[in-house]
Amino acid sequence: MNVSIAVMNTKGGVGKSTLVLALAETLAAEYKKTVLVIDSDAQASVSSMLMSISSLHRLQSEGLTIVDYLVATVLNGHSAPWSRYVVGNVSDVDDARSVYVMPSDMQLTLFEREVSKGACASACARPTPWRASAATNSSSCSPTWPRPTMPSRWRRR
Ligand SMILES: Nc1ncnc2c1ncn2[C@@H]1O[C@H](COP(=O)(O)OP(=O)(O)OP(=O)(O)O)[C@@H](O)[C@H]1O
Ligand SMILES: [Mg+2]
Repeated sequence: MNVSIAVMNTKGGVGKSTLVLALAETLAAEYKKTVLVIDSDAQASVSSMLMSISSLHRLQSEGLTIVDYLVATVLNGHSAPWSRYVVGNVSDVDDARSVYVMPSDMQLTLFEREVSKGACASACARPTPWRASAATNSSSCSPTWPRPTMPSRWRRR
């Protein structure tokens, strides 16, 4: 039976990353489970706990992170094999060799912004009883802070 465990909390510094690492390695080493850690935190803390910084940077520059998977499947609508974005044998605990990770990247924040822009555009285009037509414009949804440029390889094809 497959079990999914989500570790999330809007408060920072409460032990989320530490808990994910401990859970993954304990389940692998003590309970002989195969564990896939999906790092969906733009800080990529768990990824950097599980692999060397140089390995993580290499995967990020080669486009093999959760961001690249989501850009391919969600932004560009391609089918991408998720296993391509998974790395094995990452834990340095001898008995926890069955821990795998889908690493993250800081650009996850940019991806989230791109997705919310699309969701916002369609939500703003839809007439709703509570939105007066004269006041409807897409800028009402736009963040007011300056936006970083979207990487060119993300552009919809
Ligand atoms: N059970 C614990 N007891 C004491 N210290 C802990 C415990 N769990 C985590 N810590 C420490 O608390 C700090 C924050 O932990 P961690 O980075 O896991 O939090 P986080 O919620 O992932 O933070 P962020 O929001 O920045 O991602 C770290 O220094 C970690 O070593
Ligand atoms: Mg964390």
